Amino acid sequence: MTAARTAPAGLPDGPILSVRNLHLAIAGRRRQTPILRNVSLDIVPGEVHGLVGESGAGKTMIGKVILGIQPSRAVITGGSVRFDGRDITHLPERERRSLMGRGLGLIPQDPMTSLNPAYRIGGQIADVLRLHLGMDRAAARARALELLDDVHIREPERVLHQYPHELSGGMRQRVLIAIAFACRPKLIVADEPTTALDVTVQRQVLALIKEMQAQEGASILFVTHDLGVVAKICDRVTVLHGGRVLEAGDTRRIVESPQHDYTRALMAATPRHDRPGDLLQPVPEALTARLNAEALAYDAAPDAARAGHG
Ligand SMILES: Nc1ncnc2c1ncn2[C@@H]1O[C@H](COP(=O)(O)OP(=O)(O)OP(=O)(O)O)[C@@H](O)[C@H]1O
Ligand SMILES: [Mg+2]
Repeated sequence: MTAARTAPAGLPDGPILSVRNLHLAIAGRRRQTPILRNVSLDIVPGEVHGLVGESGAGKTMIGKVILGIQPSRAVITGGSVRFDGRDITHLPERERRSLMGRGLGLIPQDPMTSLNPAYRIGGQIADVLRLHLGMDRAAARARALELLDDVHIREPERVLHQYPHELSGGMRQRVLIAIAFACRPKLIVADEPTTALDVTVQRQVLALIKEMQAQEGASILFVTHDLGVVAKICDRVTVLHGGRVLEAGDTRRIVESPQHDYTRALMAATPRHDRPGDLLQPVPEALTARLNAEALAYDAAPDAARAGHG
């Protein structure tokens, strides 16, 4: 059940991101509620790594910890996050900010609320380029145009001057993808980047993310609850439930021969394009109950007894 630590075929070894034995809890008035339990995962350069699990599994929280934007009540109670050879687990705010853009990028879930409604598209892209790369106005504008073209936005000159509300959801998501890739980050966290979109637009946006990723050579942590999406775009996958990693490995291996009951249950709950008539099975309640009980037992176990357990 240990996470695969070697690079998939064709990808270089040596992780750009290494999450090790991460524990995180939400501080309450009387007690802390564990959210992440001993999470480890590695992402190598050029890898698209899927993070999959049902609602509440802790996928977004992991993404937030990597980006350093977890809620203030979230306390990292153990483990570490290394990025590009550097421990970033407890990085001060200023150093954090300098990591965004050139180091780390984000493709958010909701293209509706992630752009500032009061500013034109061109200005929002240019701001990022000026802030992180120190470009002047003219260079930033030229690069913004190029980026809109990269994400296949037609009439990019016109779109530069438009406001977010003038664009469709799919177009807005293309703009956000352009912004995420603008400073050529080494790792992008994409948190359910297609869930808010129609199915056909979803497919186009997925293809675009994959295309930009291949063109720019960035790594992506791709957060989703959909194993079908994982199968399409991810090299490797980590399966999460109740803040615990249940299984991890090459996508193909996971999809073709899942080892954990939960991964099998997730597969049975995922629509398959090659078998559209299949009835979907919800994850059995008994399995969820068993996993929840395991998580609580894990929380109750003394540290020594946990060693070696995931
Ligand atoms: N700001 C917060 N305060 C308290 N608890 C939180 C906060 N944010 C998240 N949590 C809790 O952390 C756990 C993991 O949440 P997270 O948002 O990471 O799940 P997720 O896997 O992204 O789910 P979804 O698929 O619904 O987006 C949940 O139990 C959630 O209630
Ligand atoms: Mg989430």
